[in-house]
Amino acid sequence: MRKLFIAGNWKMNKGIKETEDFFNELFNLVADYGKVDIAIAPPFTSIPKAVEVCRTKNILIGAQNMYFEDSGAFTGEISPKFLKELNVDFVILGHSERRHIFNESNELISKKLKKALEEGLTPILCVGETLKEREDEKTEKVLKEQVDSAFNDISPDDAKKVIIAYEPVWAIGTGKTATPEIAKDAHFFIRKRIKELYNSIVADEIRILYGGSVKPGNAKSLLSVDEIDGALIGGASLKPQSFAEIIKIGMEV
Ligand code: PGA
Repeated sequence: MRKLFIAGNWKMNKGIKETEDFFNELFNLVADYGKVDIAIAPPFTSIPKAVEVCRTKNILIGAQNMYFEDSGAFTGEISPKFLKELNVDFVILGHSERRHIFNESNELISKKLKKALEEGLTPILCVGETLKEREDEKTEKVLKEQVDSAFNDISPDDAKKVIIAYEPVWAIGTGKTATPEIAKDAHFFIRKRIKELYNSIVADEIRILYGGSVKPGNAKSLLSVDEIDGALIGGASLKPQSFAEIIKIGMEV
């Protein structure tokens, strides 16, 4: 049984004060997360506050990105060692905004994934096709390339620790959600590819989240799908009420 993982990606939102206010309100709305893993990735500068207020609350705190070197002349980059110092649990890698706005390549993401695993940070690897790629019927080709490149040279034991997030680019921040059927097919394809690269034990254990306009109104239909092991939530994770509602739905499915 794969444990459901509900994660918020705050992107470039919420400074220190807003971070503290968010969690205080969230703790008033949900006290117990049952069998669900809850995670939030604030901006780097709000991470220490998030770690501090969540210390006794069983919420995982992560970063939205990192570099693959320990230190050096890499202006503006953040070392995984610094994230470890802050007691960060996980790191989002290859988010579509990193791929498309900041031109991150599959090769770069693969180096980051390897480094995160070496440092004991749980990677959330984002994959997903653009609208054009879907229309051109290239979805599976793109997903295969992204998965194959990221897992190149990763051992089966490490592969199990990776969380994959299927995030179709056309569904992110657009209000358009993939139907449960579309998400299910993509998740099935990704899990099948992991099985081909490794074996059925790794494929059965690895968690695959769905991301792209997840909201309280569609969370139930998505999270009820067997292939979907949780959600990576942008917009709806910014408000304690909507994030709490999705957590409650996750506890019930
Ligand atoms: P969204 O973002 O929920 O606002 O579509 C999802 C994501 O970017 O991870």
